[in-house]
Amino acid sequence: MRILVIGSGGREHALVWKLLQSPHVETVFVAPGNGGTAQEQGAVNMPVAADDLAGLVNLARREGVDLVVPGPELPLTLGIADRLREVDIPCFGPDAYCAQLEGSKAFAKELMQRAQVPTARSAVFHQAAEAAAHIRAVGAPIVVKADGLAAGKGVIVAQRPEEALQAVEDMMTAHCLGAAGETLVLEECLEGEEVSLLCVCDGTHALPLPSAQDHKRVFDEDKGPNTGGMGAYSPAPVLPDNRLESLTDICVRPVLQALARDGHPFVGVLYAGLMMTADGPKVLEYNVRFGDPECQPLLMRLEGDLASLMLEAVGGTLRPGMLHYSRHTALGVVLAAQGYPGHYVKGLPITGIADAEALGDVKVFHCGTRLEEGQVLSSGGRVLCVTALGQDLAAAQARAYAAVDKIVMPQSLCRRDIGAKGLRRLAEM
Ligand code: AMP
Ligand code: GLY
Repeated sequence: MRILVIGSGGREHALVWKLLQSPHVETVFVAPGNGGTAQEQGAVNMPVAADDLAGLVNLARREGVDLVVPGPELPLTLGIADRLREVDIPCFGPDAYCAQLEGSKAFAKELMQRAQVPTARSAVFHQAAEAAAHIRAVGAPIVVKADGLAAGKGVIVAQRPEEALQAVEDMMTAHCLGAAGETLVLEECLEGEEVSLLCVCDGTHALPLPSAQDHKRVFDEDKGPNTGGMGAYSPAPVLPDNRLESLTDICVRPVLQALARDGHPFVGVLYAGLMMTADGPKVLEYNVRFGDPECQPLLMRLEGDLASLMLEAVGGTLRPGMLHYSRHTALGVVLAAQGYPGHYVKGLPITGIADAEALGDVKVFHCGTRLEEGQVLSSGGRVLCVTALGQDLAAAQARAYAAVDKIVMPQSLCRRDIGAKGLRRLAEM
């Protein structure tokens, strides 16, 4: 099989690495890939951007690709699956209609209400004055969400009404997020522990992957600004395996049924971001792809042939029991450039990756790197995701940080408490 993976982050490196373990896979093309995918035997980086749909379709046709796997949301919301369908190339990812679940918070909220999925109470606004009046009427805390894709900058959890009013002003009047902020969702602020539930879907069936937990803030103890994710581990004790099926019934399967009724069966990974509240689980958001960095520990635990699993999903033939994963815990720590998510420098030299992997049960996934004359250089804010397997959470954490400490990168930054929330919960159980 020849596969095309779209994207250039740690998630895509993990997808490439896992797909190449399949006995059926001959070559994995990566558009555009990174310094990590460039080093994987059997992978070939191609200089086509993740949002260049025509270029991607041409590449897939030219190389006789049997399956396309989009990593990030952008090509999906732009309609890569629809374009590939026109030329009969299978795509493990949803069409543009389904991708609105992630691309439009208003669409997602409407669908959740229709499908009776538990979520925060909310209202949609197209006019700043009406949004402001709503905030004055209901008060704070309140959550202000830009409707469109905003690279992690579209959600403000406002503790005071003034903060929420300022967010409305910034998004709707000053257009700080462009078109993404022209429509807003205002919603009830929920309290609880967050967890990710990712399901592999074939249009009709959803198979849950084990739970995972991301760490969105840049500093320890969830301080500092939001990032793309500073680390993740699986399973998360807050969502044990014996609850996966019932939560999938509540939070994912009704959405699949609603989309199928709309004439758009969802194929790919449907990711529900959950808040485990005192009133039970509630959906904060859907993503229409693997999470980054959740994908890295999840794929380290996954056993068996990912390429075949994806083909079953595309063919509509997923069955219970098709997913197998290691009982061990996997934990990934993101190494970022100092200053991320704000200003940071690129081109920092990285060494020690082989020493880290020599510890065993460690894989260093590249997030933002390039290869120059054999030297790995940073090329983004999130640079590496150092991922380790261990018998339990404490062991996975210890191994991942031992591996982190083997890596030498000037001006790097990482959280030192990835997994701490899970360890606290285990201690209470
Ligand atoms: P989202 O992009 O919808 O996942 O939101 C980003 C982050 O904002 C989430 O991971 C939560 O930490 C927070 N958030 C979103 N919605 C709510 C809510 N209704 N109540 C509290 N926090 C929220
Ligand atoms: N880790 C969260 C995301 O991928 O959206």
